[in-house]
Amino acid sequence: MIFFDENLRTFFLESKDVTYSFKINEAGFLQHLYFGKRIEREDLSFAPPINTEWRIHGTYIKENGKIFNLNAYPNECPTYGRSDYRESMLAFDFDGVRVGDLVYDSHYIINEKPTLSGMPSIKGGQTLVVLLVDTIHNVEGKLFYTVFEDLPVILRHCEIVNRGKTSFNIDRVYSFSLDFPDKNWKTLSLFGAHGRERMVETSDIVHGVTVFDSKRGVSSSQLNPFMAMVRNKTTEFCGEAVGFNLVYSGNFALKVQKAEADGVRVTGGINDFDFSWKLNPNETFVSPEAVLVYSDSGIGKMSRAFHDLYRNYLINPKFAFKPRPIVLNVWEALRFDISTQKILDMVDSIKDTGIDTLVVDDGWFGGEKGRNDEFSGLGDWVVNKNKINLKEIIDYTHNAGLKFGLWFEPEVASPNSNVVINHPNYILRADGLEPCEGRWSYVLDLTQKEVCDYVVNSVNAILEEYDVDYVKWDMNRSLTEFCSSFDKETAHRYILGLYDILERIVYEHPEIFFEGCASGGCRFDPAMLYYFPQIWTSDNTDAYMRALIQYGTGLCYPLSAMSCHVSAVPNKQCGRVTPFNSRFNISRLGAFGFELKIAELSNQERLSVKEFVDEYIKTQDLILNGDLYRLNSPFNENLFAEQIVSKNAKNSIIVVFKPISVHNEDTVRVYPQGLMSDKKYFIKELGIERSGGVIMAIGLPVNLKKQDFESFVYHLETI
Ligand code: GLA
Repeated sequence: MIFFDENLRTFFLESKDVTYSFKINEAGFLQHLYFGKRIEREDLSFAPPINTEWRIHGTYIKENGKIFNLNAYPNECPTYGRSDYRESMLAFDFDGVRVGDLVYDSHYIINEKPTLSGMPSIKGGQTLVVLLVDTIHNVEGKLFYTVFEDLPVILRHCEIVNRGKTSFNIDRVYSFSLDFPDKNWKTLSLFGAHGRERMVETSDIVHGVTVFDSKRGVSSSQLNPFMAMVRNKTTEFCGEAVGFNLVYSGNFALKVQKAEADGVRVTGGINDFDFSWKLNPNETFVSPEAVLVYSDSGIGKMSRAFHDLYRNYLINPKFAFKPRPIVLNVWEALRFDISTQKILDMVDSIKDTGIDTLVVDDGWFGGEKGRNDEFSGLGDWVVNKNKINLKEIIDYTHNAGLKFGLWFEPEVASPNSNVVINHPNYILRADGLEPCEGRWSYVLDLTQKEVCDYVVNSVNAILEEYDVDYVKWDMNRSLTEFCSSFDKETAHRYILGLYDILERIVYEHPEIFFEGCASGGCRFDPAMLYYFPQIWTSDNTDAYMRALIQYGTGLCYPLSAMSCHVSAVPNKQCGRVTPFNSRFNISRLGAFGFELKIAELSNQERLSVKEFVDEYIKTQDLILNGDLYRLNSPFNENLFAEQIVSKNAKNSIIVVFKPISVHNEDTVRVYPQGLMSDKKYFIKELGIERSGGVIMAIGLPVNLKKQDFESFVYHLETI
């Protein structure tokens, strides 16, 4: 619920378990008061603002004879040049003047937040809109705050409107700014690389500005648009954690600033590096949405709030809680060496295994020129009829009772493709320079409507001609040459173009299931989840690396959003040999499938495939609906343990995976969470019944064979 106390001129935004509060200061700016666990609606401004030692060296604005050093105040929407020297949320250029004065004008409350114009956003929620105005430059700033009855979440974004008669430039428009009154925090973030996405890192906050960002045009595997502030002693299960995630797929920045005294500012949104947006009279600029989650019970509770938010309010409701396709993707088994017969053989190989979808990956298109390797074909979305008979393959797959999936990489084109030869102006390029290639492709300039139309028409033509049930949408490079007729608007306009083509392809085909991908998991963000209920989490399918990658990804993304496949050994990315069973046990913690030659497996392994699928289906509801508890972190110890508990706490599985077998090592128990203390559970693997309270207090034994990369699963069910 959202309350405004007229006397205190204070807003109280109450989401489940949390209060977020700020007041309209006498100087007209929005003074942040509090974000944390739910408290009474009282006057919260009795404590001093951040820093009061400012008289000698400080600067200030004067309002009604009073002075306000903005550097000493927490501010909901700090701007540049008016005595606050910390990171600003907004920056303008009014024909050379970069200083404005946005002050409170009015506010209103709406019961259902409208969708954001031109980009994905989280559905619904009661929303406060605060209007700030700069009467000198005719700027209107709207700050949006959304609350949820059922989740400890606040959503924020802003809109800038030009109410004047001349245009001005927006040089920075972050989605939020949040000041913490004390400095006793650390940051938790997700760094990585291709094949090593979303590694967990905790760091001290030093004085100055720490930036987690991307300048690659994609949200990137190098740093995810997620970070959290955690207390020094916060663990998975206790202590405060405040998570931030941007619903955005392009260049972003999340900044953490520890200033001279107490206090830390966190702000972020679209990266302002190489960004400037010209706003003409009567135009509105909309920032992406930022998700703020508060937990007083550790990182685990923060993650569960993100998971529930995305499953309930972001991911396409048609698919969010539905059993996912159980896929055999032919990529790792066949690479470009596909033919009609080879694919029909793959279909035959999965009959009676329970796998229900066959996905033809890269290599089926390129028309006459064909795509037989990485060097050609992208951009020409025409079936290579010399290589495959797509209709025959699809009919055969459907006749075998399976669904059919197809791979696309619509945002790029090979240098020798027909589209690039015929339309050299369709790609992002800087005058006089050869465009950089990335995996031997150029990036299509999605800032141009004509180019977006080309992509939409060519992809939709295939989807209309062929009976495709599933699409894997890939993007195998970062952007370069952020140049278009839109100058420093290019990177953001590219993303708006991307959302436009996704709207016109994905949501125009509501019957097709779309999976996201970007060289594995190099563009894994909430905005992509709006289009793709699941995303290929990493090209690295090694069980050990996947345990790390999936653990990190789960900090804010639900298990059902992660595509996880069992592949062959030695693993192609790491060369490691891990047991078949362990590859399954890690893959089952997501949207499950396979990438290997089933026909070349031993009889025993083929039987295992069927057993794996049956077992996955039995516990799939936990992946789709359950609560995740991370019991042991492979980043901290030689053990990975994740537990999923059904929402009614009647069922649970615990997946335990030990990377390296060590003689006499001390971890002998895992400690389950989330069970009902007073209810008895049958522990299938031990053949005993114990109450939830006992199980959580005593723990369960870690019984593993003495071998590297061993794993096992506990099944718990109330009796
Ligand atoms: C990327 C994807 C893979 C596969 C290949 C095809 O690397 O992550 O899963 O689709 O492209 O070229």
